Amino acid sequence: MQRLSGGRVFIAGELQEADLFFDEQIRAIGSDPEFDAAEPLDVGGKIVLPGLIDVHVHFRDFRQAYQETWASGARAALQGGVTTVLEMPNSDPPTLTLKTLRAKRARAEAAGVRFGLYGGLTENNIELIPLLAPEVAAFKLYLGQTTGGLIVSDPGALREMFAAVAESGKLLAVHAQRPQSRSEAADLEPALELSDRYHTRLHLCHCRTREGIELALEARRDGLDLSIETCPHYLHFTQQDFQQQGALLKVNPPLASAADREYLWDALAKGQIDILASDHAPHTLEEKAQALERAPYGLPGVETTLPLMLDAVSKEKLTLARLVEVFSTNPARRFGLEGQGQIAVGHDADLVVVDPTRRQTVAPERLASKCGWSPFEGFELTGWPIRTWVRGRLSYAAPAP
Ligand code: NCD
Ligand code: ZN
Ligand code: ZN
Ligand code: ZN
Repeated sequence: MQRLSGGRVFIAGELQEADLFFDEQIRAIGSDPEFDAAEPLDVGGKIVLPGLIDVHVHFRDFRQAYQETWASGARAALQGGVTTVLEMPNSDPPTLTLKTLRAKRARAEAAGVRFGLYGGLTENNIELIPLLAPEVAAFKLYLGQTTGGLIVSDPGALREMFAAVAESGKLLAVHAQRPQSRSEAADLEPALELSDRYHTRLHLCHCRTREGIELALEARRDGLDLSIETCPHYLHFTQQDFQQQGALLKVNPPLASAADREYLWDALAKGQIDILASDHAPHTLEEKAQALERAPYGLPGVETTLPLMLDAVSKEKLTLARLVEVFSTNPARRFGLEGQGQIAVGHDADLVVVDPTRRQTVAPERLASKCGWSPFEGFELTGWPIRTWVRGRLSYAAPAP
């Protein structure tokens, strides 16, 4: 039994001074005499949060091990306070069959972070949906062109897919945006219509414009079962930054306007955006140094999301409660991750201690991701994770500042 004392612990929506007793699960909160013998670790007024859950990462590996592996991706996650990742299927090989799913699972299990795997959908694996369903976190559909080229456009195949995923009971995560499109709402429309028709539960990946999110909110008011995801880069950069920095900020969907960025902060603070995820998409600097048209889409971010958001909390752009909701509680609830997403007796001991006053600059030498760079390099942020436990196992401890 371990004991964390002296912390301000995020319990039931607020910070409480309490001791935590845990092994793989949280056994008691407060000063439970049954466990008082445990040797305490004093965290001296720091904040204790439930482990963060990043529902959108690309950990590559296999033929793209030069960009990221499960080992390096897991280290990056854990030092960013992320205890669970859900990993996308557009890898090489892509996650389309039980065989590729199980090969990926073997790598992921050895890495030390909790995980779920998305099953990718193509016109050729629709009949596998019932077979894959018990082993995937959710299914993923690409309606727009992006890294990996898993795009589906045949209307008949799409109808079958939406019906089969609805039948499976799993969520369908959709990359709906097309790179050259001028309207996110227009991009979302076909997915919303199919979901309405087949009652498919949707998760809308990387939404980043007012008109797109307003359409999704309207569809939800009309009864669709959908969740809305946004990512830190849309909260911090705009198309002007892309014009200045070029390929480094080339990402799908592309960065939006300053007005959209302000709208996102507002929608996040109001609870209209359900889920924050990094869309950690590592590409090397060498790949990013190519001519703009040839450079790949995607930005790394699994280890910088929490510090960026803690910094935003320090600047009162959103509350700590909202941060925990969109980056832990809602992801656990939406993706059915039992025992995760909150600090409560009987829940898993996935815990992060954060120092809300630690001030540190995002610097490549401190990053664990194999791609070795960050679009947020040079950002001076207040609030950093300093210890991470996964099912009661200490999995990261920060060096002294
Ligand atoms: C992602 C990647 O590189 O895998 N790139 C990106 O620009 N977001 C793919 C994706 O999520 O669309
Ligand atoms: Zn995508
Ligand atoms: Zn992605
Ligand atoms: Zn519970």
